[in-house]
Amino acid sequence: MTNQIELKRLELRDLAEIEEIERSSYPTPWSRSMFASELSKPSSLCLGAHDVDSGRLVGYLVISRYVDAWHVMNIAVRPDYRRQGIASMLMNRLFDLTSGRSRRGYTLEVRVSNTGAIKLYERLGFKPRGVRRGYYTDNREDALIMWKDPVQEPVARSS
Ligand SMILES: CC(C)(COP(=O)(O)OP(=O)(O)OC[C@H]1O[C@@H](n2cnc3c(N)ncnc32)[C@H](O)[C@@H]1OP(=O)(O)O)[C@@H](O)C(=O)NCCC(=O)NCCS
Repeated sequence: MTNQIELKRLELRDLAEIEEIERSSYPTPWSRSMFASELSKPSSLCLGAHDVDSGRLVGYLVISRYVDAWHVMNIAVRPDYRRQGIASMLMNRLFDLTSGRSRRGYTLEVRVSNTGAIKLYERLGFKPRGVRRGYYTDNREDALIMWKDPVQEPVARSS
C-alpha cells in the first residue's frame, strides 16, 4: 500500500518529529536549535512531508539561498517510509518553487559512501563536480560535490 503524502512548510511544532527522523538518519545529527535557526531564516526554504492518514512527519528538506545557488543543507526520510518517492517529491517541489525566479542552480555535498543518495541526486539531474577531501569531521570521509543547473520556468503557450 502506498501512503498519501502532503508537502507543507516546516514549522517549529514539527521539531520533535524532525529530531526523531534526524537521529535515525545521520551519524552526526543536527540539533533542534540548528533546525530552529534554519526555520527562522528568510534565506532558507524548509519543506516537510506528512503522511495524510496519520498526520506524522515522514521526511523533510532544508535548503539555503546563496548568491549563485540553492544549497541543499539536509534531506531525510523516516526509515520505514524510504523508497516510496518521498525525497524525490520534496526535491521536485523545491525545483517548482524556485524555477524561473533567478538563475540559481542547485548544489550539495554527499558522503562518497552514500551511494543511495548519490543515485537519487543523479536521477534528479545532479552531476558530480568535485570532491572535498576529509569534509566530514566524524570519520574524515570525503564529500562528493554535486551540481544541477537552474530549472527553467515552463514556457507560456502562445495560443
Ligand atoms: C537518501 C534518502 C533521503 C532517500 O529518500 P527516499 O524517500 O527513500 O528516496 P526516493 O524514494 O525518492 O528514491 C528515489 C530513487 O533514488 C534512488 N535511491 C534512493 N535511496 C536509495 C538507496 N538506499 N539505495 C539505492 N538507490 C536509492 C533509487 O533510484 C530510487 O528509486 P527506486 O526506489 O524506484 O529505485 C533517505 O534514504 C534518507 O533519509 N537517508 C538518510 C539521510 C541521508 O543520507 N540523506 C542524504 C544526505 S546527502
